[in-house]
Amino acid sequence: MTAPPAAAIDIRRLTYADLPQVVAIERRAFTSPWSLAMFVLELSKPTGICLAAEIPASAGEPELGGYMICSRYDTVWHVMNVAVDPTQRRRGIATAMIQSLLARVERDAQLTLEVRQSNTGAIRLYESFGFRSAGVRRRYYQDNGEDALVMWRTPATLRGSLDDVPGT
Ligand SMILES: CC(C)(COP(=O)(O)OP(=O)(O)OC[C@H]1O[C@@H](n2cnc3c(N)ncnc32)[C@H](O)[C@@H]1OP(=O)(O)O)[C@@H](O)C(=O)NCCC(=O)NCCS
Repeated sequence: MTAPPAAAIDIRRLTYADLPQVVAIERRAFTSPWSLAMFVLELSKPTGICLAAEIPASAGEPELGGYMICSRYDTVWHVMNVAVDPTQRRRGIATAMIQSLLARVERDAQLTLEVRQSNTGAIRLYESFGFRSAGVRRRYYQDNGEDALVMWRTPATLRGSLDDVPGT
């Protein structure tokens, strides 16, 4: 069932103070969750874009609904981690974070990510922003040996081609 949209989603920079909530969501979202140390390392990188999605909580205080970690390697942005609290999904939180990320990178930015081949919901989400599958990394996920789809969003993928995608 699709949940009603969150009343107000506020996207801001993720901070170290968010990490206890991040780790709690991470453990519920993934079979092989990142450790606290991995988040600390990503937050320490000055060129990365790490975002928090805040939503109003029932008690009035905003609470963390999701987060996104994006690192810059040379000229390419790599979306490393995206997760939304399981109780808050299908309310546009991941959409709002991706929109905010795209507003923060260059207009002609190249972005890439890996996603499990079975994760059709995430794949549909990324495709809605112009990400296209450009290859497969065999047995990329160590927990079950699943393949990863390698997706890119570049000026070419937005025109329907893979012309400028590295390695294709
Ligand atoms: C994938 C994930 C981040 C999506 O977050 P979300 O806030 O629920 O996504 P949104 O509400 O912005 O979804 C936007 C669109 O993406 C697609 N989508 C998202 N989740 C979907 C699902 N489970 N099944 C089918 N389509 C889905 C739909 O087209 C959706 O639009 P709709 O709700 O109007 O149909 C969330 O399900 C999650 O945290 N999953 C576990 C962690 C994970 O897989 N992260 C991605 C790793 S690459």
